[in-house]
Amino acid sequence: MIYAGNFKTNHTRASTANYIEELKDKLRGKSLEDRVYIFPPATALDDYEGDFTIGTQNAYPAQNGAYTGEIGLEQLDEFGIKSILIGHSERREYMAETQDKVSQKFAFFQEQGFEIIYCIGEPLEVRENGFEDVMKYLLAQFDGIDINYDKLIVAYEPIWAIGTGRSATVEEISTTHRALKNAINDRPLLYGGSAKPENIKEIKAIAGVDGVLVGSASLDANSFSQMVLS
Ligand code: PGA
Repeated sequence: MIYAGNFKTNHTRASTANYIEELKDKLRGKSLEDRVYIFPPATALDDYEGDFTIGTQNAYPAQNGAYTGEIGLEQLDEFGIKSILIGHSERREYMAETQDKVSQKFAFFQEQGFEIIYCIGEPLEVRENGFEDVMKYLLAQFDGIDINYDKLIVAYEPIWAIGTGRSATVEEISTTHRALKNAINDRPLLYGGSAKPENIKEIKAIAGVDGVLVGSASLDANSFSQMVLS
């Protein structure tokens, strides 16, 4: 299983360092085949050592240059960062990242050999229109994306389940993952959206779920490691 913690705009450099120390200790009990990723804010990126991978929540598709407020490859290379989240619904919505922009970013980091956790997800009104509309919406988020990239991990995150405390139901996750797995040639597929210690066991047990992308419940090292060790 893959367990990815997305801190979003939470934690500082100091609190991330404490978190990592705590996590390192707790991860001693994890199974060898499980993989853990932490995506701290950009100011907390570092080359921490431990049985996990540090990734970046975002970066600009350039080596370096005049892109005020952004970080590029040069800043990631400093800490050996080779994993990135692309297409998260919050970036699509709040930072107005269009499918075109998202796919350009994808192509750039693919070219650089990054492991890409590529996020897709539908808003509530689409879910309410029924499954056919959901799949149409989700598949359109693969426009311009090379689904055959060997370092691609997909994260399905229904927008209405993110940060709301209400995860999708087992039935919703199961039917969506089954259809998505077919569409992405069986690449690893994570579920995201209010995954937490209380529901991790039932989510993990669903066929077609290869792991979870966790926001709120990853902010506390104890809660996140509880999920990894569940
Ligand atoms: P959540 O966020 O776990 O707080 O719902 C998930 C995500 O946005 O990756």
